[in-house]
Amino acid sequence: MATPARTEPDFSTIPDLPEDVFTAPLKRPEHVGDDWLEPAQTRYDSEDDAVWNDLFARQMEVLLGRAASAFLAGLEKLDLGRGGVPDFGDLSEELGKLTGWSVVPVPMLIPDHVFFWHLANRRFPAGNFIRTRETFDYIQEPDVFHDVFGHVPMLTDPVYADYMQEYGKAGWKAMHHNRLKALGALYWYTVEFGLLREEEGLRAYGAGILSGPTEAVFAVEAQSPNRIMLNVDRVMRTDYVISDLQPTYFVIESFEDLYRQTVERDFDRLYRNLSPAFTYANSAVIDVDNVVHRGTQEYLLRGGRGSGAKPV
Ligand SMILES: [Fe+2]
Repeated sequence: MATPARTEPDFSTIPDLPEDVFTAPLKRPEHVGDDWLEPAQTRYDSEDDAVWNDLFARQMEVLLGRAASAFLAGLEKLDLGRGGVPDFGDLSEELGKLTGWSVVPVPMLIPDHVFFWHLANRRFPAGNFIRTRETFDYIQEPDVFHDVFGHVPMLTDPVYADYMQEYGKAGWKAMHHNRLKALGALYWYTVEFGLLREEEGLRAYGAGILSGPTEAVFAVEAQSPNRIMLNVDRVMRTDYVISDLQPTYFVIESFEDLYRQTVERDFDRLYRNLSPAFTYANSAVIDVDNVVHRGTQEYLLRGGRGSGAKPV
């Protein structure tokens, strides 16, 4: 017998986290409330602004011809290169006019259910702090550069903006089925590391690619990684790498296609059929894959980050 579909919450308040759902045990700092929002954005000093400007300049050297046109258009529309860390209030005003989204400051990574709730309300939670010169090349926690430079320009695209909101709503459903890990893989392979097929070739729209100089080149041009057309069911069964370049990237035809694949999916049914663990290794190519490029996996086989392997 089919399980009756749950009624979707209205998301005006934070939906309760089911008791049997495991999420990362994050400790909420005392100065933030249940919404985990900072009372105000950090006041950045001139060194912070200089770090932003240098990161911005470095990315712009590699992104032309590699970033999706919607991303580059978003950078322009929001004038993110005006100098210094952008003010979230100004940014939200601009973005609000374009797609109804806003950018809100959070202290660190926030719990999944709170993150989903903000997305469902078209609010993008962005890390408040900015990296230092010592962590200029790589940071584990997303900072304001990753979040604002990497994610926010894409929110100027109306279809992508809708996808992000739907993702937030889908998070609630995933929690109830205890399949956050599977939905996390979808986020990873689209919002963080997604590629898009454009007329001139493959382009990156994922923030994890766009906010780092090495991966921007590796994801789009290197021989090592697989590039496979996105299939939501397949992606949600696929493991991923957190602290190194990806062995596989998934490619979409268009943001409309991504939106459709996600919104039209019967997630209740999918979650009931998904095992809690991932089925496919992150470097696997399987029978049903529509392969754009079968990677050599040379970078991975040579040991990846830490081994000194070249990202080729
Ligand atoms: Fe991110």
